[in-house]
Amino acid sequence: MSDSNTNPGFFDLVGNVRAMRRLEPDPVPDELLEKVLEAGVQAPSGMNLQPWAFVVMRDPEAKRWFANHYRRAMQTRFGALFEIDDADTSPLARQARAVRYQVEHMHETPVLLFVCGERDWPFKVAEEDRVGLAPPNYGAVYPCVQNILLACRAVGLGAALTTMHQVFEEALHERLGIPDTYGVVVTIPIGFPKGRFGPVRRRPAASVTYHERWGATPDATRESVARKE
Ligand SMILES: Cc1cc2nc3c(=O)[nH]c(=O)nc-3n(C[C@H](O)[C@H](O)[C@H](O)COP(=O)(O)O)c2cc1C
Repeated sequence: MSDSNTNPGFFDLVGNVRAMRRLEPDPVPDELLEKVLEAGVQAPSGMNLQPWAFVVMRDPEAKRWFANHYRRAMQTRFGALFEIDDADTSPLARQARAVRYQVEHMHETPVLLFVCGERDWPFKVAEEDRVGLAPPNYGAVYPCVQNILLACRAVGLGAALTTMHQVFEEALHERLGIPDTYGVVVTIPIGFPKGRFGPVRRRPAASVTYHERWGATPDATRESVARKE
């Protein structure tokens, strides 16, 4: 591939999009947020139907309301998170402390971004066959979510994907006036990071990649192909 077709910057970026949960309370400039959302809507979707919609929350009272619901939801389900020993330096403990920080400071986050998705798209289920409200097609919205996370990193904003709103989604719908035809897929708190960006910790692709057959390593595959040649 020629140089004009490659973008090494992307490969640095994609490995540096950690969940940034410690955020400064300073406002996020409108133009940065617009850039991020424009990146979001460049995502692919089946038949290009673009089944996403955003609600941007900046109002302090609304953020306090959300933060209170979120704290209750987290404490009920992940109470142990709040009892992590401060001396524990394992990755899990560090993540737990970051989550706890996020819960305790959610109301100070400059922007809470709700990414919504059209329900039961594209596999429309007839109204009479539905049990309650169908969920959104998450797969149709996550490419947009990932573009948003990448774009936040690219403009120097910290962001983290959260999904715990799902336990109080009805109340959230009512509060934000979201129509029943949409579900809230993720809540992304966004702001300038307190700490530094850094590399993500992931297993290498080679450890989860097989060739020709599940479980086959490249070496074994090369040998078997060579035998046939
Ligand atoms: C589908 C999905 C749901 C997630 N839900 C939450 C969540 O509810 N709360 C949260 O703090 N992080 C959530 N995350 C973020 C992950 O915890 C995080 O990406 C993972 O632990 C790796 O950490 P890193 O991105 O900082 O490397 C979610 C991520 C995905 C992809």
